[in-house]
Amino acid sequence: MAHQPQASHELRRSSRLKDLLTSDDLSRDAINTLFETASRFALDPFTERDFLARESVVIHMTKPSTRTRLASETAIAHLGGTPIFVRGDELQLGRGETIADTARIISSYSKALIIRTFKQSDVDELAANATVPVINALTDLDHPTQALADWLTIREQFGRDLNGRKFTFLGDGNNVAHAWLLMGAALGVHVVVATPDGAWAPNAEVVARARRRAVNTGATIEVTTDPIEAVKDASVICTDVWMSMGDSEADRLSKMRDLAPFSVTEKMMALAAPDGIFMHCLPAHRGEEVEASVIDGDRSVIWREAFHRRTTIQALLFHLIKGDLPASADTL
Ligand code: CP
Ligand code: NVA
Repeated sequence: MAHQPQASHELRRSSRLKDLLTSDDLSRDAINTLFETASRFALDPFTERDFLARESVVIHMTKPSTRTRLASETAIAHLGGTPIFVRGDELQLGRGETIADTARIISSYSKALIIRTFKQSDVDELAANATVPVINALTDLDHPTQALADWLTIREQFGRDLNGRKFTFLGDGNNVAHAWLLMGAALGVHVVVATPDGAWAPNAEVVARARRRAVNTGATIEVTTDPIEAVKDASVICTDVWMSMGDSEADRLSKMRDLAPFSVTEKMMALAAPDGIFMHCLPAHRGEEVEASVIDGDRSVIWREAFHRRTTIQALLFHLIKGDLPASADTL
């Protein structure tokens, strides 16, 4: 039977998490709950097939997507619901209707809103005005649903105890790098982000947030410009495209030049831990951020990582709509 979500003010009063807006919104307990449910959906996606019966979830994207869109639509279908996909130019938002009014309308028709767009503040404003859960499906600043799939894949690979291991992201200090830092901080693990200095470094406020969170969780947050030190003994080497959606084409040449030493090569993989793996959220540009033989090689777990986009989004929808995740990210 489909659950009725509480109004947002009731959810806040009862200290339940309403939305997933950033990669540090979740407590470690909440992440563990999501991973357990996602693992159940990985084995059988239909165990909650009536949860969204006769209900819909809106997916609104102003940037392209293969995995996040298809994983979301499939996850909603597996929960028995109907996905309603609306492109960026299909809402009245583009003609001046306010974000707040849009949020109220979507809340009156659907059980949740999954949104991919440019500005994080637009997603935050939608969530503040929606009475249903809002899920950030990528902004310029963060990619929290990707982080969930990444860390579930890592936990499957190395088990629950990730102490003593080092998890490295190499390349552009973009939304995926931010998600790596923030969820690593939430999980209390040792994360490294290696980027060139300056324009392609991670956002300083995000790094500061990760460091603040690490005080409570025991995480180690390392930000460096040295790719070789970063990959030494790493259990994971993760990367992402160098030109993100919305990046200025005017920067392409200088960006490619600056990022070249951060390309994940066979030589770098040889420096990783003996059981070290390669990860990439995809889409990939072979020959730029990663050598084809690495991403298509034995140590690459990209297909399992992509598979878990669906299981983790399904788990997220299930728990956010039920309203049973703790609101406080500070609880371990
Ligand atoms: N990894 C990821 O978010 O892929 P899409 O852009 O295809 O959704
Ligand atoms: N950093 C990339 C991630 C794509 C999934 C982008 O924003 O385009």
